[in-house]
Amino acid sequence: MSKKPLILGIESSCDETAAAIISENEQGLPIVLSNIISSQVDVHKEFGGVVPELAARSHLEKIDWIVDRAIKDSQINIQNIDAIASTAGPGLIVCLSVGLSFGKTLASTLNKPFIAVNHLEGHALSPKLNSNLNYPYLLLLISGGHSQFLNVKNLGDYKRLGTTIDDALGEAFDKTAKLLGIEFPGGPQIEILAKKGDPKKFDLPKPIFNKGGCNLSFAGLKTAVLRISKNIKTDQDKFDLAASFQNTIEEILYKKTKIAFREFEKINGINQKKFVVAGGVAANKNIRNMLIKLCEEESYEYIFPPLELCGDNAAMIAMVGLEKFKLQKFDKLDHPAKPRWPLDEDALFLKGAGVEL
Ligand code: KG4
Ligand code: ZN
Repeated sequence: MSKKPLILGIESSCDETAAAIISENEQGLPIVLSNIISSQVDVHKEFGGVVPELAARSHLEKIDWIVDRAIKDSQINIQNIDAIASTAGPGLIVCLSVGLSFGKTLASTLNKPFIAVNHLEGHALSPKLNSNLNYPYLLLLISGGHSQFLNVKNLGDYKRLGTTIDDALGEAFDKTAKLLGIEFPGGPQIEILAKKGDPKKFDLPKPIFNKGGCNLSFAGLKTAVLRISKNIKTDQDKFDLAASFQNTIEEILYKKTKIAFREFEKINGINQKKFVVAGGVAANKNIRNMLIKLCEEESYEYIFPPLELCGDNAAMIAMVGLEKFKLQKFDKLDHPAKPRWPLDEDALFLKGAGVEL
């Protein structure tokens, strides 16, 4: 029996310090041996958002301990690790630098290969941690910083089919939550409040609903929520606004995903109907159920990461590390931290008012 690869993943791009060890089973499918995540929610709560300087300081305080625990929990010997994969971007540069430097130092000390990972590629590959998923597939990446449809052709080979022209979906959830007086990060709370409300109570705008292909826009929604939130008097009004927001998002995603299906089929034909949803917002069960329904209508196979791997974690970073390790794709120790690092480097920058759609 040949030795299975052991990969250490490290993540510190935003407000989660995380480390994980993954390997493979006899069938060549990934297995997570440990997955440690330390969230900084309490550090940033009183500021209503992530404060980069505090985030970086907290990563520095915890990174040794988190990596140590990931190694101990996996019950492996550190010398047996085959490669070290750290997130190198996109993200907050002061935060990225912590996990990146730690990973490089460890790789150098242990004399092991180093792999610089794109955080978005981590999300893109996260469903591989619990399913036998082959390329190509259509990816809807919905997180706090990104909202995109991508044709995932192969490892490292992405074509963006659509993107948000303003706010990311997670950002829209968090901003709506803030307007409703919910503590940061409020996105997950919207889903809970929405259950008690009337989804048809408020008529919210659906920006670029009938144009712009599968591009997305959420900024107009936030403005509408701001206007309505000023007249909110009762808890029931709050529930109704949360439900109307959640419902509007579902209608937007339903329509835009359908358009993305057609774009994906133009490239890959109709025999590769695979749809993956990843990123923090993929944990929203209403969105999941709506997208599952759409996939059933359209005969698409659907693959979601497990709920605990939708948000930021290091198992997904190790997953990219594992695929790159198998191809012997390593990076030099001077690889920079990259605050901006799109998966499709050729895609046009589509942001702001006046964007031509
Ligand atoms: O992927 P992620 O953990 O971090 C980034 O890479 O951005 O995504 C975090 C985002 C936050 O905006 C959070 O509010 C949102 O995902 N989120 C949700 C839910 N769980 C997390 N949004 C809506 N419903 C949820 N259940
Ligand atoms: Zn993320």
